[in-house]
Amino acid sequence: MRKARKAFARFWPLTRGDRRWLLLIIGCVVVSALAETASILLFADLTDHALKAGSLSAFWGPAGAWLGVAVLGALVGYLGNSLAAWTAERFVLRLRAHVFRHVQRMPPHFFQRHRRGDLVARLTGDVEAIEQMVVSGVVGTVSAAFSAVFYAAAALWLRWDLALATFVLAPVLLLTARRFSGRISSAARDERTADGALTSVVEEALGNIVLTQAYNRRRDEERRLDREARAWLRASVRGARASELYEQFVEVMETLCVLAVIGLGAWEISQDRMSLGDLLAFAAFLGYLYPPVRSLGGLGLTLTAATAGADRLREVLDARPAVTDPADPVAPWPVRGRVSLHGASFRYPGAAADSLRDVTFTAGPGELVLVTGASGAGKSTLSKLLLRFYDPDAGAVRLDGVPLPDLPLDFLRENVALLPQETLVLHGTVRENIACGRPGASDAEIERAARDAAAHDFISALPEGYDTPLAPGTAVLSGGQLQRVAIARAMLRAAPVLVLDEPTAGLDALAARQVVRPLRRLTAGRTTVMITHDLHLAPDADRVLVVEEGRLVESGTHAELLARGGAYARLHGAAAPAAPVAAVVEAAAVVVPIVDRGPAPALTSDGTSAALSRVWP
Ligand SMILES: Nc1ncnc2c1ncn2[C@@H]1O[C@H](COP(=O)(O)OP(=O)(O)OP(=O)(O)O)[C@@H](O)[C@H]1O
Ligand SMILES: [Mg+2]
Repeated sequence: MRKARKAFARFWPLTRGDRRWLLLIIGCVVVSALAETASILLFADLTDHALKAGSLSAFWGPAGAWLGVAVLGALVGYLGNSLAAWTAERFVLRLRAHVFRHVQRMPPHFFQRHRRGDLVARLTGDVEAIEQMVVSGVVGTVSAAFSAVFYAAAALWLRWDLALATFVLAPVLLLTARRFSGRISSAARDERTADGALTSVVEEALGNIVLTQAYNRRRDEERRLDREARAWLRASVRGARASELYEQFVEVMETLCVLAVIGLGAWEISQDRMSLGDLLAFAAFLGYLYPPVRSLGGLGLTLTAATAGADRLREVLDARPAVTDPADPVAPWPVRGRVSLHGASFRYPGAAADSLRDVTFTAGPGELVLVTGASGAGKSTLSKLLLRFYDPDAGAVRLDGVPLPDLPLDFLRENVALLPQETLVLHGTVRENIACGRPGASDAEIERAARDAAAHDFISALPEGYDTPLAPGTAVLSGGQLQRVAIARAMLRAAPVLVLDEPTAGLDALAARQVVRPLRRLTAGRTTVMITHDLHLAPDADRVLVVEEGRLVESGTHAELLARGGAYARLHGAAAPAAPVAAVVEAAAVVVPIVDRGPAPALTSDGTSAALSRVWP
């Protein structure tokens, strides 16, 4: 119960602005209950005076009044219930927006820790569970309490002694409800968790469909789904059984009660102490009394179910963003583009070791700094510090000498553009995908960015050109083409500082070659930190940094580092075969259309023949 109260206190403030509607709804409920009470009394009147006496003249008066009351009740009921639905849905809308806004600010590791499907479940099902408690729960409780009081008062007014005799059952109902609530709540919690797991499995399986199909993992995925679905089934059946048991128990108790009333009533009537109309009205009041009493008893059940959802949402809402806007930000200035790290160390929350240790370097305005190193060395982590997805644990990151935590986040990210390691696609047209670099850009500007990114030709060749819809995961464009769309987006952004994380990763030699020139155009005149394994661009770089296990181990120009014969020379040696392949591809691209379409030339080097087979029709 304490948990429910805490959960309630947490989410109740979200009803601000709608509370007067809640009051109006409760007003409607009260009027409805009053109308109901009146109609039962009119019914008793009709029984005694019109039916028993067989008099039609006694019918018209009460009948007219009853009709009037019924119409009033209907109007008020309609108003109250529509208003309640509207208020409840507005609450859901607001809560979901609140949670979504919060989730959008979470740092990258948050999304690695929470499965996406589970987050989806929290944003949908759990949000609704909380609505059940905060809006429907409050309206339901208040209206149940009012109705119960009215019907009980009416029953007492009719025959207080009979009424008291039947009220003794109320505590029994409340006690059994309490006994059941534990069982139902644990089932509800399991059901919400299983719901999250189920959504995750479906989401992951669909996202991984290529792996699934290529490696014949369909059976495994089905088994995984089956396992989670069974957990869900168990929890949901357990919950349904517990609440059904409760309902049926209450049903029997009520029958017992009604029989007792009829028995007592028969005796009273035989003693001439009660009329038939009164007895029927009395029984009707008791009949009307049970549902509100039952829903008051069941309130604990709704609360516990909602608490399960509230717990899961609280977990999300209590996760703090890794970085926040400064309270007292530095005023924006025209950024020149000097970025620097000073003794920066960083460890991911919960990780065992530092991902970066004591890294210091500066990239001056317009410089191209290339960062390379083995996989897992900490290069992407470096890019996350530069965009302030995280603050370093020690040391500082600066833009034009200003520590990043002193800058408004929006300003920072307007001036430091990221081309992330995985190409990200927005749900929208190609045009919108480019325009998101700078909202409000004109079509001409978008096209120029696309031309500079060598993307205009293939975009124009699409059936709908710039209006071709793209969505995450669709295959309208190849990896290299998507990367050029991303480059166009960054072009348009025109930020003074660029952070490129593996711009050619995942592209074959041919596609990589096609992005090199756009990349050169993109980086010209901007401070660029380019993270890459592909050392083609190294000779162009003003400086090359080599990262090893989170430390900066070498720094210098391509030629200097090669001459030194250290880590960079080793990396370069490992990457060297890439160059001849690209050269052969370039040659093949020219030769192939001329030669007769015979069998593809068999080349000994694996890499070369693979590259050629891509060019070969
Ligand atoms: N969210 C995270 N939580 C904990 N550790 C992480 C997280 N992300 C990365 N790491 C760890 O930090 C280290 C550096 O990772 P990072 O992604 O920066 O490597 P990288 O140099 O970009 O590698 P690659 O070339 O494969 O992209 C790795 O050891 C990695 O396991
Ligand atoms: Mg990386």
